[in-house]
Amino acid sequence: MEKQKDVLILAIESSCDETAAAVVKNGRSVLSNVISSQIDLHKLYGGVVPEIASRKHIEKINQVIEEALKEADTTLDDLDAIAVTYGPGLVGALLVGVAEAKAISFAKNLPLVGVHHIEGHISANYIENLDLEPPFLCLVVSGGHTHLVVVKDYGEFEILGRTRDDAAGEAFDKVARAIGLGYPGGPKIDKLSKQGNAYAMDFPKAKVADAPYDFSFSGVKSAVLNHLNKCKMMGEPVVEADIAASFQRCVVEVLVEHAIAAARDYHISKLAIAGGVASNQTLRNAMEQACEKNGIQFYHPSPIFCTDNAAMIGVAGYYEYIKGTRHGWDLNAVPNLKLGER
Ligand code: KG4
Ligand code: ZN
Repeated sequence: MEKQKDVLILAIESSCDETAAAVVKNGRSVLSNVISSQIDLHKLYGGVVPEIASRKHIEKINQVIEEALKEADTTLDDLDAIAVTYGPGLVGALLVGVAEAKAISFAKNLPLVGVHHIEGHISANYIENLDLEPPFLCLVVSGGHTHLVVVKDYGEFEILGRTRDDAAGEAFDKVARAIGLGYPGGPKIDKLSKQGNAYAMDFPKAKVADAPYDFSFSGVKSAVLNHLNKCKMMGEPVVEADIAASFQRCVVEVLVEHAIAAARDYHISKLAIAGGVASNQTLRNAMEQACEKNGIQFYHPSPIFCTDNAAMIGVAGYYEYIKGTRHGWDLNAVPNLKLGER
């Protein structure tokens, strides 16, 4: 039998504060994954400044793409398609990647495939889990999204639950700022929690009436702020590590409980996690234990594929490409793009 030709995709990601490019072969093999992070710059302001993000993407994108091609020992002439994140995200930041992808695909006459950022996060699970195929359940927890999604097929999703207010990562970032840890808060809370008592405080775990898989994190965030105010007024010491660990326990318990309940209710035996918060060690451990207890197979990407990267966009782009998804020169950045929309 004739061997199928390899499909090489150059992927570009610039939706927030990382300028990233990757080369992915046949949707599962990452030949290069270059990430230029702007975190040190945005740290000065306590969060991502959109205008600065766009400017930095413009400065870095060509260099990052060149590095990704070089690392993969590839040239633009070897590629089969260009994949790019076109939403959701910061409009100015997205536009840089979209314009770059359009320019390369026009110059080299290559198919252009626009990719949904969250479809990318979910697809990160395919990189190191070669046995993973849909259907499965995925908990997406990033700085902008908290979704419980049934991945029915490649690129086909049913959203079972979503956050009603803050995203999980957003709650981590806000609580970290309140206790003086700085930006980005997730990794800092993850680290500081290891020195704290996760049962020192009992922060509220919100349930949304009639929507068992929806999330709400504004209550726990307010409870942390109230606790800090109370300490200040009463002259009591603030134990940051205990607050971090207790807050994290509360968020992790909610995430695990909802995900396991959905997997059981929908009789789904495979559960994956995705997005920046999926690199949280306590969440990974708790989810692994709960899955084991419930006879569910647990999947997770390595931390480098959880936070924003272009390899995941190359994987999602491959599955869109083989399904026939093509975008034209009118492809635009869509800051509020819905999952499953094309
Ligand atoms: O997926 P991501 O890189 O960007 C978005 O698409 O939003 O997620 C970034 C979010 C931030 O809120 C960051 O604080 C959080 O992921 N995060 C973490 C950890 N690493 C990153 N949250 C908890 N624990 C971590 N280890
Ligand atoms: Zn992301």
